[in-house]
Amino acid sequence: MIAPVLSLREISKSFGLQRALIGVNLDLAPGRIHALVGENGSGKSTLIKVLSGYHRPTPGGSMEVEGKTVPLGSPTESRRHGLRFVHQNLGLVEEFSVLENFGLTDGFPTRRGVIDWGGLRLSATTLLKKLDIKLNLNRHVSELTAVERSSIAIARALGASGDGTARVLVLDEPTAALPVDDVERLHGLVRGVAGQGVAVLYVSHRLDEVLELSDHVTALRDGRVVASVTATGLDREKLVRLIVGSDVKNEPHAPPQPVAAHRERTRIQASRVSAGTISGISLEVGPGEIVGIAGLDGSGRESIARTLCGASGQVGELRIDGERVFMKSPRDAARAGVALVLANRDLGAAVGQFSVGENISHVLYASTHSLSAHHRGEYERARDWIDRLSIRPRREGVAYAALSGGNKQKVIFAKWLAIKPKVLVLDDPTSGVDVGARGLMYAQTRAAAADGISVIIASSDTEDLVRMCSRVLVLVDGQVACELNGSDVTEEKLAYAMSSGRTNSGMEQDHV
Ligand SMILES: Nc1ncnc2c1ncn2[C@@H]1O[C@H](COP(=O)(O)OP(=O)(O)OP(=O)(O)O)[C@@H](O)[C@H]1O
Ligand SMILES: [Mg+2]
Repeated sequence: MIAPVLSLREISKSFGLQRALIGVNLDLAPGRIHALVGENGSGKSTLIKVLSGYHRPTPGGSMEVEGKTVPLGSPTESRRHGLRFVHQNLGLVEEFSVLENFGLTDGFPTRRGVIDWGGLRLSATTLLKKLDIKLNLNRHVSELTAVERSSIAIARALGASGDGTARVLVLDEPTAALPVDDVERLHGLVRGVAGQGVAVLYVSHRLDEVLELSDHVTALRDGRVVASVTATGLDREKLVRLIVGSDVKNEPHAPPQPVAAHRERTRIQASRVSAGTISGISLEVGPGEIVGIAGLDGSGRESIARTLCGASGQVGELRIDGERVFMKSPRDAARAGVALVLANRDLGAAVGQFSVGENISHVLYASTHSLSAHHRGEYERARDWIDRLSIRPRREGVAYAALSGGNKQKVIFAKWLAIKPKVLVLDDPTSGVDVGARGLMYAQTRAAAADGISVIIASSDTEDLVRMCSRVLVLVDGQVACELNGSDVTEEKLAYAMSSGRTNSGMEQDHV
C-alpha cells in the first residue's frame, strides 16, 4: 500500500438544513487516478470545493498533504500544498490568447515593473512540452476545440511559477461534452499527469470512462462515502450499483415510431440552413418522431440546435406545420412552438434566485399568459416534474442556484417539456446527468414524442442517440454526410459514420 499523498478525515458540510457531506474520509495515492462518483446532488462538487478551500467544512474534520496538516477553508493554503483544480467550466477567458490565459492564474511575471512576456512564454512552453501538448500560444481560446481547451486548463492548473509543485490534480467532469476521440486524447493527457507522480481525483458520470481510466473508485450517496474500492474487477453493473444503490434497468433499444396517423405530415421543415460551420442543411421531422444529429466536434453538430432556433443567425427557410416562421432568438422560437434545451445550464437558461418551482412554471406562465389564475395548478405540475425526473432536493421552493449541476440540467429540461412544445430541440441534453436520471430523461422524451411532439437531439454522447432516435443525421464538415435508420443506429455504426461520413453499408459496397 502506497502512503497517501492526501488524506481527508471526517469532512462534513451543510447548507442550511441541507447536509451535503457527512463524515467523509478520502485517501489519494501519488501517481494514481481516483474516480469520485455519485448521483446528481450526492456531494462531489461540494467535496472538491472543500479541497480547494472554497467551502469551509463543519469544524471537526481535517486534511493532510504528505503528513502535514492543511488549514481548511483557505484557497491559498490548498494551493501552497500542491492541490490544483480544473472546474467544469474550465475558467478560461475566450477573448484572450492561450499565453494570456496562462498568466491569469499564475500571475504575470514582471521584470523591472513590466510584464515579462518572455518569461511567461518560456514557462508555458516548458509546461506544454512536459505534457506533450502541441499548441500555438498566440491562438485565441475562442478558436480552440473542446479538447484543446481542456488541455490548456489542465496544463495551466499544473503550472508552477514559484508556487510549489502540483501534488494533486482535481478534475470536475472534464469530459462532459467531449466526443469519443477527444475523450481518448484527454485520457492520455491525464494518464501522463499521473505518470509524473501526481495524484488525480476525477469526477465523471461517464461509466465507461471511470472503468477505463481509474485505479480506485469512491462513491458518494447523499453526502456519505458508501464505497471506496480498487477498480480491478469492477464492471459497469457493479459500478451502477455503487452509484445508485440498486440496479438500473437499461431499457432495450426501442426507438419510437412516428405516430401512424401523422406519418405523412411534416411538423418542422428546415431548408438550406447555413450559419457558421453549417452550410445548407435541410431536414424534415414528423410529429412524434425523434431525430438525432451526430457529428464530431467542428462538424456543425455543436451549433445546429441553436441555429435551428434562430440563435446564431439563421439563413435559409424554416416551416412549422407548413407555415413559414422567422426566428431571430430562442424567444421567437418559443413563440413559434419550438423549445430549445441547451447543455450550458448557467447561460441564461434559468433564473438563479428563483426557486425550482418558479423556474419550471416560468415558461408555463409565459405561454399561458395567466400569471395568477393557474398558479396552484402550475405548482402542482412543477412538483410532478420534480418526481418524474427525480430532481433533488425534492422541494420546489429550493433556489435554482443552490442545485447541483446535474439537477440544474434536469430543471431546464423539465421547464421546456412542461409547455408541451410542437418541436423540442435538445443540445447535449444529458451532459452532467447521472446514470439513473439519464434513463428518466430518455423515458420523458419518448413520452413527449408519443404525445406527438417532434424531437431533434444533437448530442456528442452517442448513447443519447442510440437510446432515443429512430433516425440519425450524421454531420461532417457542416453538411449532412449520411443518415442511419432504425436498427442501424448503433454506437459502432455512428462512430464509423462520424469519422468517415459514410455508413457501413457504403463501405461494404466499396469493396464489392
Ligand atoms: N451553494 C449551495 N447552497 C445550498 N445548497 C447547495 C450549495 N451547493 C450545493 N448544495 C447542495 O448540496 C448537495 C450536494 O451538491 P453537489 O453540487 O456537491 O452535488 P454533485 O455530487 O456535485 O452533483 P452533480 O453530479 O449534479 O454535479 C445538493 O443537495 C445541493 O443542492
Ligand atoms: Mg457537481
